[in-house]
Amino acid sequence: MKIISNKYELAKFIINEKNLGFVPTMGAIHLGHIALIKKSISQCDKTVVSIFVNKPQFNKNSDYKNYPRIKNKDVSVLKKLKVDYLFMPKENDIYEDGYNKKIKISNLKRKLCGKFRPGHFEAVVDVVDRFIKIIKPKNVYFGEKDMQQLKIIEHYIKKNKIKTNVIGCKTVREKNGIAYSSRNLLLTKKQKIIASKICKFLMNKKNKIIKNKKLLPIIKKYIFDLGVNKIDYLELIDINKLIKPIIKKSKYRVFLSYHLGNVRLIDNI
Ligand code: PAJ
Repeated sequence: MKIISNKYELAKFIINEKNLGFVPTMGAIHLGHIALIKKSISQCDKTVVSIFVNKPQFNKNSDYKNYPRIKNKDVSVLKKLKVDYLFMPKENDIYEDGYNKKIKISNLKRKLCGKFRPGHFEAVVDVVDRFIKIIKPKNVYFGEKDMQQLKIIEHYIKKNKIKTNVIGCKTVREKNGIAYSSRNLLLTKKQKIIASKICKFLMNKKNKIIKNKKLLPIIKKYIFDLGVNKIDYLELIDINKLIKPIIKKSKYRVFLSYHLGNVRLIDNI
């Protein structure tokens, strides 16, 4: 595995690759990331993984500062997976011309996480767009764990006629039901038990919620009673109608964002 921090150097290595896969991450690599990476390795000739904790997509400086950074462990995991290139650029290398404040993205940014994280999705799309311009991958891989992010990026790539395929990958969960997330490293044992109870409860109740949306306030109360200090949202949404209504069979997900201590978690079930 080649570890590269300079974008011009990376470009030199991959310029002739026709079947290149790219997995953008912010590091603290877990089994969710690994599923994306394995998919890329199986579908592409070469795979680039990036680790870049993208400052402007954080709404709180403390969240950015506390974000888990475990570079040495990440490098050894990625080496074992036989990733071809690990790209770890410096902030200046990516943002030499400053942030793109004029970036236009789907109105989906106004829903769910967007309501609570102004500018977050613009910053995500800005950085992904910059990476795609450097790497020019055939495929780029994103997890359904961050469904809103996946849908907004799909929309952006289509709208701007970017020649990269967006591949969505199913959410990978721990045995206890919790979706793998780098932020799980910040949870105490007690908080993990609460998160697990919430996931299992929603998995059990999903069909009932689809039949009767009025159950949502009752479920919110149950979640608060478990010891959650704040729920940003709990909504039932047909993912085929998230951006433009697609005339397809409904595919419902329960979208949830809540806070355990200082840690904000999201999931869709
Ligand atoms: P990060 O949270 O590191 O996630 C990187 C990718 O892994 C995203 O596509 C995310 O959806 C996927 N992922 C995370 N947990 C997953 C799980 N349990 N199952 C399946 N996929 C999972 O998302 C970001 O970084 C950033 O916003 C980024 C796209 C890198 C831009 O900065």
